[in-house]
Amino acid sequence: MNSPSLLPILRYPDPRLHTVAQPVKAVDDRIRSLIERMFETMYDANGIGLAATQVDVHERLIVIDVSETRDERLVLINPEIEWASPEKRKGEEGCLSVPGIYDGVERSIAVRVRALDGNGVERTIDAQGMLAVCIQHEMDHLLGKVFVEYLSPLKRDRIKSKLVKAQREALRA
Ligand code: NI
Repeated sequence: MNSPSLLPILRYPDPRLHTVAQPVKAVDDRIRSLIERMFETMYDANGIGLAATQVDVHERLIVIDVSETRDERLVLINPEIEWASPEKRKGEEGCLSVPGIYDGVERSIAVRVRALDGNGVERTIDAQGMLAVCIQHEMDHLLGKVFVEYLSPLKRDRIKSKLVKAQREALRA
């Protein structure tokens, strides 16, 4: 039985994934409870990042944990990229909204991001490696962009039909 606080994750090609998120107006009890439920949902799905867009909440909020130990929570509210390294690298990405699909995406190898944390305090985060990639991937979600949109149209169409078929079969089962 799933915990009642787990949130359903939208699956590509759900059109709601292309919604552009609005800024969070206040870091209040509603947002704090959403953050908790998003972490629970992300950990339950073995993900390293989750954007509010993926749980059908269209506000600029991201939760991340790229640690092996699953105890290094990072909350980004209203994140803005202050700087992105011109040097880019192609790495394999996956997404909880695109289950079972992994493919290469080119990203800046380092970014500096300004955001509010879970207490509403402004922070600047200098990220590199997997964290930098994860932040860029999740910030794309807030703009309504899913990583498969970086792939060729042919690959994207193939992924789309594969997922539509899988969802149809899951409904029938
Ligand atoms: Ni994703």
